Amino acid sequence: MQRIAIYPGSFDPVTNGHLDIIERGLSLFDKIIVAILHNPAKKSLFSVEERIEMLQASTVKFSGVEIDCFSGLLVDYASRKNAHAILRGMRAVSDFEYEFQLALMNRRLNREVQTVFLMTGLRWIFTSSSIIKEAASFGGDISDMVPEIVEYKLHEKFGTKPKTA
Ligand code: PNS
Repeated sequence: MQRIAIYPGSFDPVTNGHLDIIERGLSLFDKIIVAILHNPAKKSLFSVEERIEMLQASTVKFSGVEIDCFSGLLVDYASRKNAHAILRGMRAVSDFEYEFQLALMNRRLNREVQTVFLMTGLRWIFTSSSIIKEAASFGGDISDMVPEIVEYKLHEKFGTKPKTA
């Protein structure tokens, strides 16, 4: 039986921290489905299509990764995909309360699906999509925190200049 995990999130946009979790997760699972939550109520910088494109380009180097999007309950999506695990990255202590709540609610909704937490590499402990977006919006250098395609797309979105150009 294939060990399949869902790695859900907003991925607005994908960062090197996310890629670090995917890489670590691949040592535990045969397949990781990176699932972008399609939530029209939440304001995002990138469309789901743009986020899929950036994730696809950033994960071609891995085998066993699929990119998808979902709406509705995560545990229902996991069941549809025959996944028994939800993968989440844990950074600093500040992530803990929300992640704990999410995992317990998901367990209440479906006891068959387990949440697996992986620690991000120390390098990425303070990176998040939101802080990266803020830095990029003011022309900050974010080149060592995101894949190249994301750096380009962020600067394109904000009309700022990538350091490498
Ligand atoms: O990267 P994020 O924004 O922290 O990811 C949050 C996400 C997508 C994992 C979470 O909001 C989610 O799973 N939403 C789908 C609806 C759901 O099942 N919520 C949890 C139980 S109410």
